[in-house]
Amino acid sequence: MTTKPNMHYADLQESYLFRRIAQRIEAYELDHPGTHLYRMGIGDVSLPLCDAVIRALHAAVDDQASTERFHGYMPECGAPFLREAIAAHYRERGVVLETDEVFVSSGASDELGAMLDLFDASSSAMVIEPAYPAYVDANVIAGRPVVHVPAREEEGFLPEPNESARADVLYLCSPNNPTGAVFNKTQLQAWVDFANACGSVILFDAAYEAFIEGDELPHSIFELEGARTCAIEICSLSKTAGFTGTRLGYTVIPRELVRAGMSLRDMWVRNRTTKTNGVSYIIQRGAAAVFTPEGQRQTREHIAVYKRNARVLMDALDEAGVWYCGGRNAPYLWMRCPDGMGSWDLFDRLLHEVQVIGTPGEGFGSCGEGYFRLTAFGTHENTLEALSRIREI
Ligand code: MLT
Repeated sequence: MTTKPNMHYADLQESYLFRRIAQRIEAYELDHPGTHLYRMGIGDVSLPLCDAVIRALHAAVDDQASTERFHGYMPECGAPFLREAIAAHYRERGVVLETDEVFVSSGASDELGAMLDLFDASSSAMVIEPAYPAYVDANVIAGRPVVHVPAREEEGFLPEPNESARADVLYLCSPNNPTGAVFNKTQLQAWVDFANACGSVILFDAAYEAFIEGDELPHSIFELEGARTCAIEICSLSKTAGFTGTRLGYTVIPRELVRAGMSLRDMWVRNRTTKTNGVSYIIQRGAAAVFTPEGQRQTREHIAVYKRNARVLMDALDEAGVWYCGGRNAPYLWMRCPDGMGSWDLFDRLLHEVQVIGTPGEGFGSCGEGYFRLTAFGTHENTLEALSRIREI
C-alpha cells in the first residue's frame, strides 16, 4: 500500500507569495553580496517590543525559575488573566464580551488556517481579491471551493455584498491587507446583514485595527448590529505591538454563533483542548502588558512611528500624481504601477535598480495585477532613503 498524500497541494502555486519574493531577493543577494536592501515588502515590524512588554517578559522568565510561581501547561484557550485583559480592552470600546468568548492564539495566520476545522469539508469560502494569500491557500489545501470576488479601484477596493459573494465562509479584512482600504460602519453592516440572511459565517481579520484613527470607522465587527450571530473576529499583536517574532493573537467567537444547532464557540473549545497545549506562559504575560495603560501608551507611540512613515509615502505619491489607497488607517499603501507596468516588473526594477523591496500586487490574486504594495513598517530613516531611491527612477 502506498500512502496517498493530500493531492490538493498540487493545486497550489509552487511556493507561497512571501517565499517567492524571498527567493528572488536571495538570488539578487547572491549576485550582489553586501548590498543593503530597503525592505518595504513583507509587513514585518522594525521597532523592538515596548518597555512594558519587555519587563513583563523578564518577570515571567523569573516566575519560571521559582518553584512557587512556575507554570507548566497553560489552559488551552488562554490564561484567564489575558482573556480578561482582552475582554476589558473590548469593553473600553463599547463591545461587551464574556471572557470565555475570547481565545488566545499563537497568531492570526495560524488561527485563520486552523479555523477551517469548524466548517464542513464541503464548505465554500468567499475571498475578496486582492487578498492576503493565506486565505486562499488554506482553503486550497483543504480542497474547498473558493469564490473569488474582485475588488476594484472604482469602488475603493471595498466591494458590496451581492449574489456572487454567496459562500459558507466569508473572509473580510479591514483595514485591508493588501489595499489598506477600511470598511465604514454602513459598508460593514451590509456584509453582516448579508451573512445573517445567507446563514454564512464571516471570518473577520482585524489584525490591523490599531492603525484606525478615531472611533468613526469600526475597529471590531462586534460594533455592528447582528454580528454576534454571524461573525468570528481574529486579531493579532504582531502589528499592534511588534509581536511578529514573539507570536500572540486572539480570537472572539460569540455564544450566539450557532449553525445546525452547534455552538461554534463550544466546538472551538473542543478543538483547542484537543489540538494545542496553549500559548507559553511567558508570552501571555508579555501580551497582557500590552493591555495595561502603560503598554497602550507605548504601543501607540510605536504605531505613530509607522503612521509617520505612511504619511511621507502618501505625500510622495500625491506629489508624483500616482493613484493609491490605504496609508491613512493602515500600514499598507496600495499604488497603481506607473506607465501600465506589470507588478512583478516593477518589483524587479525596484530591486535591481534602487535596491528597494515592495510586494507585487499580482501576488494577492489576479485583480492585484498592475498594483504594488508598500509597507510603512520600516525604520523612519530607511523609509526616507527608500523613498528618495524610488524617486530616482
Ligand atoms: C504581509 O506582509 O502581508 C503580512 O506581514 C503577512 C502576515 O501577516 O503573515
